[in-house]
Amino acid sequence: MMTDIATLQTELMAAIDSADTLDALDAVRISALGKQGSVSALLKTMGAMSPDERQTQGPIINGLRESVTAGLAAKKAALETAELNRRLASEYVDMTLPAPETPRGTVHPVSQVMDELAEIFADMGFAVAEGREIEDDWHNFTALNIPETHPARAMHDTFYFPDEMAREGSKMLLRTHTSPVQIRTMTSQEPPIRIIAPGRVYRSDSDATHTPMFHQIEGLVIDKGIHLGHLKWTLETFLKAYFEREDVVLRLRPSYFPFTEPSVEVDVGYSMVNGKRVIGGSEGWMEVLGSGMVHRKVIEACGLDPDIWQGFAFGTGVDRLAMLKYGMDDLRAFFDGDNRWLQHYGFDALDVPTLSGGVGA
Ligand code: PHE
Repeated sequence: MMTDIATLQTELMAAIDSADTLDALDAVRISALGKQGSVSALLKTMGAMSPDERQTQGPIINGLRESVTAGLAAKKAALETAELNRRLASEYVDMTLPAPETPRGTVHPVSQVMDELAEIFADMGFAVAEGREIEDDWHNFTALNIPETHPARAMHDTFYFPDEMAREGSKMLLRTHTSPVQIRTMTSQEPPIRIIAPGRVYRSDSDATHTPMFHQIEGLVIDKGIHLGHLKWTLETFLKAYFEREDVVLRLRPSYFPFTEPSVEVDVGYSMVNGKRVIGGSEGWMEVLGSGMVHRKVIEACGLDPDIWQGFAFGTGVDRLAMLKYGMDDLRAFFDGDNRWLQHYGFDALDVPTLSGGVGA
């Protein structure tokens, strides 16, 4: 028995020693300590031994189990260390290599211009307000003093939803301008109000300079003692900051909007440089926005007293402002999603517009 055990131990230790993979080592473990293993079989014989026999054999058999277990553990640790060293030697990262090129998206010019405008107006104390793209007739037209007979209500301009979808007697539609945000703001917060509202608007119209969906930005100021001078200063400050030129000249022309009185359309002057129109100077004029003093009826419709609260509003096309500043000539390309156009006209996502850095830089 003694020699058998000694021989078994020598054999097992040799097998452990020559196992050169974790799998091979595990096979040795199973052959010794597994259910059918040689060491397990010896341990089982102890049950049938007489107390005397057990006293002499027990320590020998247990000693065998302990040295085999310890031998397995030591070899396992050695194999794992060797494996780790092998991987460390082969799988290193060369930190001096240039990073691989990955496809990078760009910020769409419309988003960029909206960010630029938010930055410019935030500096003048304006907050950003939001409305709804699916509007009701009351907010889009009636509250803005647009009578039933106004041509803007005709089907060819406005995308209406079917009559069954009317809510509280008001037909639903895709908003045709951002002006309903004026109403939503005046009916939900107390004056003084200073907001801009950028967003999508919809009109049934399509050619090189018109798409059925486009973007506007609305401005609204409601306070005490507000007059046209405030409007003019605000627009001048905004357009100079936006075009990043001090020589931006404005021309205010009398106009008509149902929701402003008086109403003015605003042109910016341009100069011809190498056959191209460049904003600045006054060789020619381009219309850029509609504006005016908020009509008494609009202030009243929102539950405010027009003898206490006055203000001005303006609305302008974001896409058009983008075209004028960044030189695109076809509006339809804005919404085609052509990656080549986006790579050319888009902006780096990490270049956040700031006034100190030049908003469009
Ligand atoms: N809502 C007008 C439009 O879409 C623009 C506008 C806004 C005019 C605010 C005056 C005041 O043409």
